Amino acid sequence: MTTTPTMTEPDVFDRLGLTQGHCAVVGMQYGDEGKGQIVDRLAERFDYVVRYNGGANAGHTVVIGDQKFALHLVPSGILCPNAINVVGNGVVVDPEQILKEMDGLRERGVKVGDNLRISDRAHVVMPYHKTQDALFDHALSKASGTASIGTTGRGIGPCYADKATRTTAIRIGDLLCPDSLKERVRKIVGIKNIMLQALAQSCGDPYTPLNADQIHADLEKHAQRLRPHICDTTQLLYQAGQQGKKLLFEGANATLLDIDHGTYPFVTSSSCASLGVYPGAGVPGGTLKNVVGIVKLYTSRVGAGPFPTELLDETASQIRERGREYGTTTGRPRRCGWLDLVAVRYAVRLSGVTAVVGTGLSVLRGLPSLKLCVGYRVDGRIIDTVPASCDLLARVEPVFEELPGFDVAVDECRDANDLPAEAKKYIQRVEQFIGVPLAMVCVGRRRDQILPRYH
Ligand code: GDP
Ligand code: IMO
Ligand code: MG
Repeated sequence: MTTTPTMTEPDVFDRLGLTQGHCAVVGMQYGDEGKGQIVDRLAERFDYVVRYNGGANAGHTVVIGDQKFALHLVPSGILCPNAINVVGNGVVVDPEQILKEMDGLRERGVKVGDNLRISDRAHVVMPYHKTQDALFDHALSKASGTASIGTTGRGIGPCYADKATRTTAIRIGDLLCPDSLKERVRKIVGIKNIMLQALAQSCGDPYTPLNADQIHADLEKHAQRLRPHICDTTQLLYQAGQQGKKLLFEGANATLLDIDHGTYPFVTSSSCASLGVYPGAGVPGGTLKNVVGIVKLYTSRVGAGPFPTELLDETASQIRERGREYGTTTGRPRRCGWLDLVAVRYAVRLSGVTAVVGTGLSVLRGLPSLKLCVGYRVDGRIIDTVPASCDLLARVEPVFEELPGFDVAVDECRDANDLPAEAKKYIQRVEQFIGVPLAMVCVGRRRDQILPRYH
């Protein structure tokens, strides 16, 4: 499958200076901002596309013509034949899932061979991590006074927890040591069975003990197939940098789901902001020249957690249906609401964003007016940043500015200059508030629906 346009002319990304050095693409909200679309578009200007965090909790959609690709673990640069795609050490890899994804791509004619590398230091998501994820959320939802996170059930949190525990973790590199792997799996599964049985009992769920030998046999099978892709990716990226190659880092999840800086505890378990690039890819501090922040021009959130601008009325349904706001990974309907500029400005600051891409403009069509949250009112005062306390954030009342809506089929627009005046005003207010220019606006998910604003 040939998907890469020829690169004879410098394009908007070059003119904006975004391709002059290493660059990261990061979500500025609660995920699903459209990162996959932009990574795919940028990938043709870069030599390497590198995932540095998260796992199969991510669901990145790339639409090319009438073909739609949902990527979870494989970087979104895979559809550009010239890019080398790297799954970095900060990612948690479910072997079965990544193999399924690789097979699915190959069946559709996409090259997946030596253009996909997986870090030997990445951690392995094991079947018991997924069991633990589900059981833990269930136990929490049953216990009074505690809220469950509503995870994707992909075993992400338990795998990162084992990484921190160390003695119960398995890394991708361990798959290459068959002699010690069997014993290791036996020991860990023994411990997990004790833990998980107790957890299941506490919420009255049945529990079938995990079979260590079966888990090991499956792992061995997957290891054989993954072996050619496994390497020391930090060395690979170092050498690429030395040769003047350009690296594009693909953030999964998003800044407000970041383990340190998100709406804790309703977050994921990795460093999603651009700060995570350094430990998650094993590149030195200062590597990044640019950070492209992806902002959906409304807000969506999946799972639990505070959402100050959430809508629970007909407007929410309209946004959900228009934006096809159903989880790429779990199929869950996403919660929808107005654009929260306080949260976006916070994310822009944390990730050191140099340019923003605004997605989802076409979804706002037909709404009589558009609201932008420019402050949080709480306990008789106004706060202008995201507080550390989730309880406080859950109590804030958004301060809105209301702008006129537009009713024009902007999805057919191919030049940002032709957007309706109301849409232009909305965009201008966004960039004025967050202090970074919106270099591009997306009016749909296809490659040709990305409109540069500065020529
Ligand atoms: P990612 O996880 O950041 O790559 O984003 P997803 O592909 O998971 O989700 C993006 C969501 O935004 C989907 O539900 C899209 O239907 C919706 N959406 C609405 N307008 C746009 C747009 O202009 N571009 C993109 N990429 N997505 C849009
Ligand atoms: P992309 O990369 C949207 C959310 C989950 C849940 C919380 C923790 O497609 O933007 P986890 O399974 O990570 O322990 O779940 O984080 N979440 C996402 N929401 N998009 C994502 O990824 C997400 N990754 C995690 O819904 O609330
Ligand atoms: Mg997604």
